[in-house]
Amino acid sequence: MAVHGLESEPVGSFPSSGIDVLVVGTGLAGLTAAIECIRKGHNVRVLERAATINTLGDMYFMGLPATRFFKHWPEMKAEYDSIGLHNAWIQTFRHSGEEIVKPLYVNERLKAAGLDPKTPPGTFQLRPLIYKMFVKQVERLGIKIEFNTRVVDYFEEGGKGGCVTQEGKRYEADVVIAADGVGSKSQRLVGGQVRAVSSGRAMWRAAFPIENLDKDPEVKEHYKMVTKNEGGEREPIVRTFLGPGTYAMTLTRPDTMIWIINHNATGSSAENWSNTIEPKEVLDTMDEGVGPNPWAPMMKRLIACTPEKTIVNFELLWRDPQPSWKSPNGRVVQIGDAAHSFLPASGNGATQAIEDAVSIASCLQLCGGKDNITEAVEAHIRFRFIRNACAQKVGFSNAELLQDTDWNKVKFDPRRAQPKHPKWVWEHDPEVYTYENYSKNVEAMKKGIRFDECDVPPNFPRGYKFEPWSIEKIMEDMRQGKSIDLGPGNWD
Ligand SMILES: Cc1cc2nc3c(=O)[nH]c(=O)nc-3n(C[C@H](O)[C@H](O)[C@H](O)COP(=O)(O)OP(=O)(O)OC[C@H]3O[C@@H](n4cnc5c(N)ncnc54)[C@H](O)[C@@H]3O)c2cc1C
Ligand SMILES: *[C@@H]1O[C@H](CO)[C@@H](O)[C@H](O)[C@H]1NC(C)=O
Ligand SMILES: *[C@@H]1O[C@H](CO)[C@@H](O)[C@H](O)[C@H]1NC(C)=O
Ligand SMILES: *[C@@H]1O[C@H](CO)[C@@H](O)[C@H](O)[C@H]1NC(C)=O
Ligand SMILES: *[C@@H]1O[C@H](CO)[C@@H](O)[C@H](O)[C@H]1NC(C)=O
Repeated sequence: MAVHGLESEPVGSFPSSGIDVLVVGTGLAGLTAAIECIRKGHNVRVLERAATINTLGDMYFMGLPATRFFKHWPEMKAEYDSIGLHNAWIQTFRHSGEEIVKPLYVNERLKAAGLDPKTPPGTFQLRPLIYKMFVKQVERLGIKIEFNTRVVDYFEEGGKGGCVTQEGKRYEADVVIAADGVGSKSQRLVGGQVRAVSSGRAMWRAAFPIENLDKDPEVKEHYKMVTKNEGGEREPIVRTFLGPGTYAMTLTRPDTMIWIINHNATGSSAENWSNTIEPKEVLDTMDEGVGPNPWAPMMKRLIACTPEKTIVNFELLWRDPQPSWKSPNGRVVQIGDAAHSFLPASGNGATQAIEDAVSIASCLQLCGGKDNITEAVEAHIRFRFIRNACAQKVGFSNAELLQDTDWNKVKFDPRRAQPKHPKWVWEHDPEVYTYENYSKNVEAMKKGIRFDECDVPPNFPRGYKFEPWSIEKIMEDMRQGKSIDLGPGNWD
């Protein structure tokens, strides 16, 4: 029998399942769940607290596993190819401005770091463009998003899941997918609430129209794109900066300039994508804690060009893996950041959110219908839990690597200037994996065999056995100068 997910199967390929799905939240998790559930034959409604399409944010890394399902969505695939970063360059500097690694194609840097340039583990994407691309697809399918609908609570009763809005309106469905991000209101029902711990770090991040650089022609010249050939064709470039206690990156695209700087959390940082500060605050404090050499003047002048109400001071909070992602009978299930939060530096927040969505839509199709939703949700969580906990840990390890980079060594080993993108993360295809392994997974589940002890091949580091771990322990190790102990198995 053909395995679903290998070939393109557009909408209409699957018969109706009769399962009513309610999706809460229109981040990447919620939007992917909505379109994939439609494609798999489920009925879908979507709720969102924001008043309208929210195109805030700058960029995120989209790993390969999060883009494999585009084969089913020709319009999205075409748009993704047109908005993506093609032939991007990357160059690395000390924070004080000296070049450490000359401009190379990203692919060449991957090769230098021992990765196969033909399969880059993913690409940086502009959130506003990606978000609009998904919303357009949802609209093409005729799915109505009910904006201005803030969910305040979730419930499960009589074989249904449901939620209640701020206005007291109740919604019910066979299964509710809580994709309402960090701090999901479903945490009380699923018993998954974990404490958010400050990492002590934050990021200043800004994305704005490139015309703002006209204010300072030397800045415009300094951060220009790469001119490829005599024809004058220009290509985007990522510039990374490493210093003691800080790292930063800029991205220059034809229309957009982006910069991001990691720094110690301040009173004005918050875990909130609308929390903006003005350039003066950054300029006044950025040289603290970077050692004897201040930031390069060109970085300061770039910051000075940033328009008002644009710089987000985003605080990085850490959370232990959540113990549970579902209500007792599985009628409410969390996906994406609602289930597991990632540090932006992990390069996994967007990727794992999309993988979750593809997985839950597939499991609900595979279970055969309404009667088996509990089974589908439990099987989905077994597929996803250990993989996510491992990806979260890699995120901490990457953050540590970047923050503590000994920038005198970087010249000799570009690998240290590059976060880890392990093979077990980017090789995965969440749809094919689910179709090939669902029945084996369910069989083992019914026998009470742990996922990491059953005969389904792992989608996490081979050889790893899950043991609960905590941020407290990791932080303690860091304080003692120990590097993060990832655990047994092949993490590369
Ligand atoms: C505005 C915004 C900008 C972002 N910008 C970046 C960025 O530049 N770089 C980066 O790495 N990551 C960014 N992120 C985070 C990133 O999108 C997520 O970490 C990742 O994609 C996982 O997505 P998610 O769908 O699980 O969660 P999210 O993207 O957080 O989406 C959650 C959605 O649920 C909605 N919601 C929340 N609470 C409720 C409620 N009670 N009722 C109804 N709806 C609710 C939110 O409005 C949001 O649309 C941003 C997130 C947001 C919301
Ligand atoms: C995020 O910041 C904005 C702007 O300061 C504010 O209006 C909003 O209430 C904040 N959101 C949360 C959840 O704190
Ligand atoms: C930033 O935090 C680290 C760790 O807590 C500390 O050692 C360092 O001095 C701080 N830097 C500044 C500028 O406060
Ligand atoms: C539900 O699952 C069981 C096996 O777990 C299967 O026998 C049954 O056919 C499924 N129900 C439907 C409606 O497919
Ligand atoms: C599980 O899926 C993988 C592909 O993702 C496949 O190689 C493997 O054979 C499957 N395992 C089982 C037990 O069917």
